[in-house]
Amino acid sequence: MNDKNLEKSRLGALVYDPAPESASIANIKPSYGLFIDGAFSDASSHEHFVTLNPATEEVLSTVSRASDADVDRAVSSARRAYEKVWSKTSGAERAKYLFRIARLIQERSRELAVVETLDNGKPIRESRDIDIPLAAAHFFYYAGWADKLDHAGYGANPQPLGVAGQIIPWNFPLLMAAWKLAPALAAGNTCVLKPAETTPLTALVLAEILQQAELPSGVVNIITGDGSTGAALVEHPGVDKIAFTGSTEVGRLIQQRVASSAKHLTLELGGKGANIVFEDAPIDEMIEGIIDGIFFNQGHVCCAGSRLLVQESIADEVLRRLVRRVEQLRVGNPMDKNTDVGAINSAAQLARIEELTAFGEREGATRYSSSCVLPEKGYWFAPTVFADVAQSHRIAREEIFGPVLSVLSFRTPEEAVAKANNTNYGLACGVWSEKGSRTLWVAERLRAGVIWANTYNRFDPASPFGGVRESGFGREGGRQGLEAYLNV
Ligand code: NAI
Ligand code: MG
Repeated sequence: MNDKNLEKSRLGALVYDPAPESASIANIKPSYGLFIDGAFSDASSHEHFVTLNPATEEVLSTVSRASDADVDRAVSSARRAYEKVWSKTSGAERAKYLFRIARLIQERSRELAVVETLDNGKPIRESRDIDIPLAAAHFFYYAGWADKLDHAGYGANPQPLGVAGQIIPWNFPLLMAAWKLAPALAAGNTCVLKPAETTPLTALVLAEILQQAELPSGVVNIITGDGSTGAALVEHPGVDKIAFTGSTEVGRLIQQRVASSAKHLTLELGGKGANIVFEDAPIDEMIEGIIDGIFFNQGHVCCAGSRLLVQESIADEVLRRLVRRVEQLRVGNPMDKNTDVGAINSAAQLARIEELTAFGEREGATRYSSSCVLPEKGYWFAPTVFADVAQSHRIAREEIFGPVLSVLSFRTPEEAVAKANNTNYGLACGVWSEKGSRTLWVAERLRAGVIWANTYNRFDPASPFGGVRESGFGREGGRQGLEAYLNV
């Protein structure tokens, strides 16, 4: 036990022996091509890039960079598959493929969890218990809809859109792929999916799973690359629909590019979620909810409860408890089953978190950062709570997308609502209170797509998820998630 741990154990924090998951099951190949027309092939330009383990900075694999010509190849393949096969495949048949994919994800769940944690930096406990099971659950859920579209509330025999171009971020790589692919395929579309450049690996394992499931060639194409590959997909005239999850900045750009075309568009963008806690809420559960709301997945969560609005009468106690709880979070090796907070996904994201938190201090907020020892290699940021935050501070307005909580206080429910809504975003909020009537009163007045009561970051494939205002439009999950892929 090092001195720091010894000190922690004296403070009453539990100290655990290491319990690392084995990396050997990951079976990551030294290089991957593009998955087009049911097979892996090299990029036409032969260009590549590497993906790292952000916890160690080690190179995990080399992946192809899709050029405009490759994007064209992928879209043509999706179009062929749509016209020749998938649009003629019955809903009941499509369901069989989706069920098969769901079961294969379950069968290979340990491998997928390890690959996700290595490529992304998130704790293995989260990829194992949340990302991968939820990805399988999405395929199961939408498999159930594929032959029941007549009953989805969009009239008789609703039609698919055609070829969907889908661009996803790095915070939940496999889960976002599932959120995009499952409803699109259930509704009868074919897909070209572009994973984020720092986390392409689980999508490439999924490509192998699609082969295992014998999904007809071209129904799903997976092309790796950076923003320029994404932009080429957005521009391609053969695409009928673009679904994007990522930054508001890029979302805005895509909206402009698509505006002059007939393409359908859904955007799931950033957020600055308010977690509102009233004095009557059960305090232990609430503290855990606040912690989970912001430190889950290193705070790389679009719906993170990154602004805590706490009723003034309990503000001191909540802050005291939060600071103590933050000190107990285990930060470090994401492959360790006891780790609570893993690595920041990239050097660029770390730089952004550092810039915004430095700004928070300069603007006069009071900073409490965990005294945890951060590993020397890799990208790390100690879990941080800012008190004395004003609504005008950048840390109260901008999405930090890291393990950083901004604490503000309020006196009345009216003030809580006004402060919660004082943002350009509108993705998610949480309300903590023992009183149901108060929770409903507040929830009705919050401008956000998702509102959790006495919980946070709770996801279910049957429940629609999405934003309002600068958090985007369109819903993923539930019956509503089908609408994004049907011509209605
Ligand atoms: P990003 O929006 O640039 O990346 C998301 C995806 O879009 C990636 O696959 C990327 O390759 C692609 N992309 C980038 N430029 C594109 C373009 N012009 N056309 C089409 N596709 C394009 O996000 P980035 O740079 O990784 O993160 C920047 C900030 O965005 C983060 O600090 C965070 O605040 C926010 N963010 C929000 C996410 C969310 O889920 N709401 C997810 C990722 C980032
Ligand atoms: Mg990576």
